[in-house]
Amino acid sequence: MDKLEGWKRTHTCGALNKSDETLAVTLMGWVHRRRDHGGLIFIDVRDRYGLTQIVFDPNVMADGFQNAKGLRGEFVVAVRGTVRARPEGMANPNLNTGDIEVVVSELKILNPAKTPPFEIDENIDISEELRLKYRYLDLRTSAMRENLLRRHKTSHAVRSYMNESGFVEIETPILMRSTPEGARDYLVPSRIHNGKFYALPQSPQTYKQILMVAGMDRYYQVVRCFRDEDLRADRQPEFTQIDIELSFVERDDVLQIMEGLVAHTFMEVLDVEIATPFQRLTYQEAITRFGSDKPDLRYGLEIVDISKLVGDCDFKVFSGCVKDGGTVCGIAVKGGAKYSRKQVDTLTAEMQNEGAKGVVAIKVGDGGWDSGLAKFFTPETIQEINQAFGAEAGDLLLVVADQGEQAFLLGGLLRSKIAKQEDLIPEGKWALAWVLEFPLLEHDDEQGRYVARHHPFTSPMDEDIDLMESDPGAVRAKAYDLVLNGYEIAGGSIRIHQRDMQDRMFRLLDISTSEAQDKFGFLLDAFEFGAPPHGGIAFGFDRLVMLLCGENSIRNVIAFPKTNSALSLMDGCPSVVDDRQLKELGLKVI
Ligand code: AMO
Repeated sequence: MDKLEGWKRTHTCGALNKSDETLAVTLMGWVHRRRDHGGLIFIDVRDRYGLTQIVFDPNVMADGFQNAKGLRGEFVVAVRGTVRARPEGMANPNLNTGDIEVVVSELKILNPAKTPPFEIDENIDISEELRLKYRYLDLRTSAMRENLLRRHKTSHAVRSYMNESGFVEIETPILMRSTPEGARDYLVPSRIHNGKFYALPQSPQTYKQILMVAGMDRYYQVVRCFRDEDLRADRQPEFTQIDIELSFVERDDVLQIMEGLVAHTFMEVLDVEIATPFQRLTYQEAITRFGSDKPDLRYGLEIVDISKLVGDCDFKVFSGCVKDGGTVCGIAVKGGAKYSRKQVDTLTAEMQNEGAKGVVAIKVGDGGWDSGLAKFFTPETIQEINQAFGAEAGDLLLVVADQGEQAFLLGGLLRSKIAKQEDLIPEGKWALAWVLEFPLLEHDDEQGRYVARHHPFTSPMDEDIDLMESDPGAVRAKAYDLVLNGYEIAGGSIRIHQRDMQDRMFRLLDISTSEAQDKFGFLLDAFEFGAPPHGGIAFGFDRLVMLLCGENSIRNVIAFPKTNSALSLMDGCPSVVDDRQLKELGLKVI
C-alpha cells in the first residue's frame, strides 16, 4: 500500500474539461469501473464530485503498469498524469468530464478494497436491507450522494432565509422532560438519579415557547426530534424539524413568513418559482372536498356528496345511512365504465381492507345507469346524481356510505387510488396549500375523554371560545398544516399565552391542576412572568427534502436511517448492554 507522501489533489474527479488539455494533474478517488482494451486499461475514478476516465498505457508507464493491472473496483487510488482530449467519437456527453481523459504516468494504491456486496450503481436492483447494512457503499451511488447534497443545500437555503428574516438559531436540550406531542417518548435512564428518566424531545415545543417568554422574539432551530411511533415511508423514529417560533404575531403573519421561506427554498434548491400566497382550505373543506386533511391538490377528482339526493331512495344501504345521520359520497371516474368486474372487485377488497363496508360501483350508460341498482332510484334521481357527479355515458361512479368523517375519508382513499390508477397526477407540479381551522380537540373513545388534536398549548379560535364548555368538539383551533403534494410538511399553531385560558384548556382535557403542574409546571410558571402572544410552526425537514429530491421515502434522504422496525442495520442498534451498565442505572431487564 502506498502513502500520500506529499501528493496533493490538483482537481476533483468532476472538474476537468477540454480547456485543461495538456495540464499535469493529480487526482484521487475510488476505482469505479474498469475496461481493458487493446493493451490499455481504462478506469473511471470516482469521488463526490464526479467521474474522470484515466488511461494506463504501458508505453507511458512502463514501471507501474503491473500495479495498474491489479486494480479492482473500489480500490482507493491516487494518480498523476496529463489531460488529453478523448479521441473522435469517444466523448461521453453525459459526463462533465466526458470530453477528456487523463493519461497516467504515476499510480499510488492508497488502499485496496474487498469486492463489494453490490455494484456501486443506482440502476441495479438490490434490497433496501443490503443497502442499509452497507450504507457507506450505498452512499457512494450518485443518487444517494445527490440526495445528501440537496439536503445540505436545502438546510443552507432555510438557514439563510431565517437568518435574513431576523430569526436566531438557539439550541435546546436533548435530555429533557417529556414533551406533549402525543407519541411515545424515548427515555434515557439517569445514573445519578436512579429511577428517574430523561425523555428525548418529540419536539422542542416547550422550550421554544419559553424562549418567547424570555424575549428572544424570533427563534428557529434545525433540530433532531425523537418519537417512538409506528414507522412508515415518511416517518422515522428520529427525524429533523425546522422548528420556528415568533412573538407578537397572529396566524396570518406566520403563514406569510413561511410562504416566503418555502418560495425562497424552492428557488435556491430547484430554481423553481413558487407562487404565493398558497391556497388555503379549512379543515372542513379539505375533508369534504378531498377526503383528507393533507389533500393532494395536483389533481381534481373532488368528492361529491349525494346524501341529500339519496335519503329517500329504495336502496337501503344509502337511505339507511343518511337516516342514521351518515354521508353517501363518492367520485366519478371518467371513462371508468370500461373497468372489468375483476378490477372493481379488487378495488372494493382494497377499500374493505381500509375499513370500508363496501363500494357501490355504477356504470353510467346512455340514458341512465347500466347497473342493477337503477331499479331502486327514480329516473329523476338518477339524472340528479349524474349531474352532481358531472358524469356522462361511459363513466363509473364509485360511492361509499358511512357515518361521520369516515365516509369522506373513504371517498378520499378512492380519490387517491383512482388518481394513481388513471395516471391523473401530473409530474413536476408543486401543489402547496394551508389547511386551517382544525378541530381543537379529538374525542378519544378508549379513554372516554377529549385529547388535544395538536397539543394542549394550541389556542382556540376567538369565535369559538364560548363553545369550549358547551360543545368542545365544535371548537376550532388556530392551528395550521402546510401540505405539499399530499404530504403534511409542516404544522403549527398560535399558542395560548394566558394562564386562565390554559387552565380552561387543561380542564377540557381532563388534566387536573396537580397533573398539569407536575407535567408542565415550569411552562405555566413561566407564563406568569409576562408571556407575549406567540405562535410557531415546525417543518418535517426530511419530508421536505424527500419531495425536493423526488423520492418517496425519507430513508433515501437520511444518511443513516432506521428500518421500519427502528433498527440500524449498519451498526446493529438497539443492542444489549452489559450488566454493569444496567446496575449503575438501577435497571433490570425483565
Ligand atoms: P408536528 O407533530 O405536526 O408538530 O410535527 C411537525 C412536522 O414534523 C414532521 N414529522 C415527522 N417527520 C418524520 N418522521 C416523523 N416521525 C415525524 N413526525 C412529525 C411532519 C410534521 O408536519 N411542536 C409542533 C410544531 C409546532 O406547533 O410548532 C410539532 O412537532 O412533517
